[in-house]
Amino acid sequence: MLSERINRIQPSPTLAISAKSKAMRAAGEDVISFDVGEPDFDTPLHIKEACIKALQDGDTKYTAAAGTPALREAICRKMQRENKLPFAPDQIVVSCGGKHSLYNIFQSILNAGDEVIIPAPYWVSYPDQVLLADGVPVILHAGQEQDFKITAQQLDDCLTSHSRVKAVVINSPSNPTGAVYSPDALKELCAVLENYPNVLVISDEVYEHMVLAPNEQWSVARYSEDFARRTVLVHSFSKTYSMTGWRLGWTSSSKELAGAMSKIQSQSTSNPTSFAQAGGVAALDGPLDEAMFSEFEKRGKVIRELLNDVPGFECARPEGAFYAFPQVSGLFGVMVEKDTQLNTAAQLADYLLRVAKVAIVPGEGFGAPDHVRFSYANSMSNIKEGINRILRVLPE
Ligand SMILES: Cc1ncc(COP(=O)(O)O)c(C=O)c1O
Repeated sequence: MLSERINRIQPSPTLAISAKSKAMRAAGEDVISFDVGEPDFDTPLHIKEACIKALQDGDTKYTAAAGTPALREAICRKMQRENKLPFAPDQIVVSCGGKHSLYNIFQSILNAGDEVIIPAPYWVSYPDQVLLADGVPVILHAGQEQDFKITAQQLDDCLTSHSRVKAVVINSPSNPTGAVYSPDALKELCAVLENYPNVLVISDEVYEHMVLAPNEQWSVARYSEDFARRTVLVHSFSKTYSMTGWRLGWTSSSKELAGAMSKIQSQSTSNPTSFAQAGGVAALDGPLDEAMFSEFEKRGKVIRELLNDVPGFECARPEGAFYAFPQVSGLFGVMVEKDTQLNTAAQLADYLLRVAKVAIVPGEGFGAPDHVRFSYANSMSNIKEGINRILRVLPE
C-alpha cells in the first residue's frame, strides 16, 4: 500500500528516544533528560505577548505562502544587522521550522539520482530528507580526530569522484557534535567549491548564536557575491528564541529558489501559522537572550570535564550549539549487570535509560556509531546528578 519512497526512510531517532523518556516521566519515573534538542528556557514574554495580541486582533487567517510581508521584512533587517548579508523579502521563505525549510530545499533542487554531500556526524534528518526527494546522500566522514570537520582536501576528493553533486550541507555550529567551523576553515572549503560553480551550499545556521568563546560564527555566504548567490541559509526561531513548539524557520536564498520553495508551500502547507509569525516579528525586532547563551557556555565547559571523568568516555570540547558528543567505544565489550555486554552506542543508551534513568541519544542515527549525544539544555544540577548516575552504573 505504501510508496517505495516512504520505505527508504526511518522515523527520527531523536524524537523516538524523547518519546520513550517522556513516557517514563509520565509514568512517574525520575528521568534526567540529555536527549532533547531544545532550550530549557521559556519563550520570552514579549514574543508571547505579540502572538496573543495578534490573536486578539483577529490575525487568524491565511497569510502569503512564503510568510507575511512584516515577518519577511523583519528577517531582511536581521540578516543585514546580524549576518551582514543583504536580502530582499522575495528571497525569504518562512516555513514551519528549519526542518521544513530543509525539506523544501531538497524537494526544490533535486532530480532523481542527484547527490548531496553530507558531512558525518550529521543531523539526523539530512540523509532521510534527501532520500525523500529521490536524491542520494554522499556521506563524508569527519570524526573526532579531525574535530568533526571536513577538510578542503576531503571535499575536493569527494567532488572529484562524484559526478552528480548538486549541493553540500554545512552545519555550523553542529548538531550533534557541537563543532564550529572557523572562518578560515570555511574559506578553505569555499576555495575548493570555486572550482565547482554549479554546486549549491546549504548552510544550516540554526545554532548561530550558541557559540562558545573563542570560536566565531561565520557563513560561507559571506565569502563572495557568487557564494551569496549559491548559498541557501537555513535559520530558525526554535533555538535562538526558545520557540521550538511554534514551528517557525526560514530560508534566505536566490529569488529563483525562494520562488520554488514558495510554490511547494502554496501546494502543501499554504503558510506558517499567522499568529506565530507575529511572534516571530517581535522575536527578531527584540533583544537576544544573552543570559541564556552564556548559561549554555558555562554548561558546555562543565559537562565536558564531567564526561571525561567517566571511564570509557572521551569528550572533545564543545564549541557551540548545546551538545557534547563523547566517544564511548571504550566501553564496548564491557559487561554490566550479570550478563549484559555493551557492544553498541544504542545498547549503552538503552542501559543508561533503563538502569540509571538518564536519557541520551545513541550516535548511530547521526552516522557516528562510536558516540552518544548529550544535550546540555538542562540545569547545571541535573547535569551533575545525571553524570553521577552514569558513574554509579558503569564499571570503574
Ligand atoms: C542542525 C539542525 N537543523 C535544523 C533543525 C530544525 O529545527 P526546527 O525545525 O525546530 O527549526 C534542528 C533541530 O534540532 C537542528 O538541530
